[in-house]
Amino acid sequence: MLDTPLVGARQEPVMRAVIQERYGTPDLVELGELPEPVPADGEVLIKVRAASLNGSDRENLAGSPFYARLGGLRRPRKPVPGSDVAGVVAAVGAAVTEFAPGDEVFGELAGYRGGLAEYVATPPNLLARKPPGLSFVDAAALPQAGCIALRATKGVKDGDAVLVNGAGGAGGALVVGLAKHFGAEVTAVDRADKADYLRQIGADEAIDFEAEDWAERRGRYDRIIDLIAHRSPYRVQRALRPGGAYLMVGGRTRILLATLIAGPTAGWRAGKRVRVLAVPQSRAHLEEVTALVLDGAAAPVVDRVYPLAEAPAAFARIAAGDNRGKVVVEVP
Ligand SMILES: NC(=O)c1ccc[n+]([C@@H]2O[C@H](COP(=O)([O-])OP(=O)(O)OC[C@H]3O[C@@H](n4cnc5c(N)ncnc54)[C@H](OP(=O)(O)O)[C@@H]3O)[C@@H](O)[C@H]2O)c1
Repeated sequence: MLDTPLVGARQEPVMRAVIQERYGTPDLVELGELPEPVPADGEVLIKVRAASLNGSDRENLAGSPFYARLGGLRRPRKPVPGSDVAGVVAAVGAAVTEFAPGDEVFGELAGYRGGLAEYVATPPNLLARKPPGLSFVDAAALPQAGCIALRATKGVKDGDAVLVNGAGGAGGALVVGLAKHFGAEVTAVDRADKADYLRQIGADEAIDFEAEDWAERRGRYDRIIDLIAHRSPYRVQRALRPGGAYLMVGGRTRILLATLIAGPTAGWRAGKRVRVLAVPQSRAHLEEVTALVLDGAAAPVVDRVYPLAEAPAAFARIAAGDNRGKVVVEVP
């Protein structure tokens, strides 16, 4: 092996990327250089303009809950974090017919990683065309949170009482916004210092989870959307009205397993449904929720925008829980 590169040897093009080699705290996240990806036959290469952070990025940084390690048990297999992107197609593989260089696109990345870089190569099936009226920053804020909100509020109708637990984080604004759009009376739960924000995004009532346990409100809700579950299925079902539904979206692994196993029997006598909501990454759902956003039904809230060079600070913000809505990283 040569220590000195050959004069005239072809240099691999490199790109700036955020790199997370291990699970842990935000100080492990750093800006570095990686080879620019080359799209495979069935992939598009996106020149990333903006990428947003979700609760799942906070979990993927920490490696907790345990399901966050599906992408690598001891360390992330893909070192670049970032699941939601918006950008411009820079190149397409030979088998890709639906997009061409220059197209503006946005969407989720398979495996929930890779977006915090100047370029990412990904299959086109999860991507949608970015509407011209949507900025790259707003488009990047939409995919994961929007698809969760769309699925979690499906079937909500006028006059329903809906509780959203963990509504003050990345995805809550779209969940609360869509539930209000469908005519629900919304109770939003988070920390006390987010109460004003929860009302700004449309909640009729805000609960400080450290001051009150909403699960003690017996028979009150038609739908409970739990973004940060840590109660057993038997406890949460008590807060449902007969015929109501509890949907676990995110939370502790122990509760995920308990809800999968015991959810179907918890409360069934009163026609209550307690289950885990699996939200598939989907272009069709992204297009559906984008149409609702463009119609003014709901809007993602952008908390703060950081340049790529300051991505570690963006992670520090979500790890500390200081964000109200989406933190977005812009790639100049
Ligand atoms: N089901 C699926 O298919 C699917 C797909 C994608 C993602 N997900 C999951 O969906 C979740 C997405 O939520 P997100 O992005 O909005 O998360 P997030 O940004 O982490 O927001 C969670 C919010 O809950 C607050 N919180 C913390 N402890 C709480 C408690 N005990 N009670 C009530 N609120 C509490 C947090 O406050 P602090 O920040 O101050 O702690 C934060 O404001 C993630 O867990 C993700 O893994 C699920």
